[in-house]
Amino acid sequence: MFEGFANVWTPLVLERRVGRRPLRVMLAGEALVLFRSADGRVGALIDRCPHRGAALSLGHLTEDGCLECPFHGWRFDADGANRGVPLNPDAKLASLGAAALPVRRIGELIWVYTSVGTAPPGEPTVPTGLSDPGLARCYVEREWDCHWTRAMENMLDSPHLPFVHRRTIGRVYRSRMKPDSRMDIAWEDTPWGGRARALLDGEDSGGVLEHHRPNVMTLHIPIRGRRFEIHALVIPAEPGRTRLIVAGSRDFARCRLFSPLFAWMNGRIADEDMAVVESSGPDECPPASQERSVASDRATLRFRKYYYDELRSSHT
Ligand code: FES
Ligand SMILES: [Fe+2]
Repeated sequence: MFEGFANVWTPLVLERRVGRRPLRVMLAGEALVLFRSADGRVGALIDRCPHRGAALSLGHLTEDGCLECPFHGWRFDADGANRGVPLNPDAKLASLGAAALPVRRIGELIWVYTSVGTAPPGEPTVPTGLSDPGLARCYVEREWDCHWTRAMENMLDSPHLPFVHRRTIGRVYRSRMKPDSRMDIAWEDTPWGGRARALLDGEDSGGVLEHHRPNVMTLHIPIRGRRFEIHALVIPAEPGRTRLIVAGSRDFARCRLFSPLFAWMNGRIADEDMAVVESSGPDECPPASQERSVASDRATLRFRKYYYDELRSSHT
């Protein structure tokens, strides 16, 4: 289950997507169903009834906030506990539950832990920009036809900025670049992942890029005395299919009327990346020895080492 992406906390969907109807969401090859129980909590179950395997997402929510299977009407709460088996008053409900994932609501996002039946060892490490109540946030969503590792590496890759993003966030690099310029990546491991700075000819732009393992990138954009961040949440859906949620957070222009403008800009930057990322092959980032790399690939090589040494090898 969740092959190559097991036993991690991941952002999954914007909470506002979970309404009064069951929501089917793919995560690392598994179909999940999300729904909101009567007390407002969001539940995430494997989208397969433990009785005869029907998709629970075809069912509906009952008055008491349970998810009712469309086939024989078994009812499950947000923790997956069985709350009723019609026509079988003697059924032992305790042993007839559905498979549930641990769920957290953080800021505007629903996070899940990619394991069924095991308690997570800790809480998700979330960039503060995604939860700080003092910030205004905006979101755009995209789907790319690629393996999530290609999309994640793209988010951690500074040397593509003056090429792919020459008219947007790479414009400053582009204007400063000379034929003999060099980019050095200063990388620092942290307990939750790592932090990179890109120096062009020894000059630090002040931008800081963070990898919050496994699949969140935060870019701190330097504006004097301000907080301005872009967060790329790279969510594996199915083989060859990745969902992106790009969040922007800021402590200025906090009026909600400005959010569509910031969201549009973040969407444009993501759209600039799509063609090159989708064109990259093989689909999944290969081990480092199978591609040619150079000094400015330091951050993406660090991701690749984490992916192969830790995340991919730990699947259940
Ligand atoms: S398959 Fe779900 S209740 Fe029978
Ligand atoms: Fe990019």
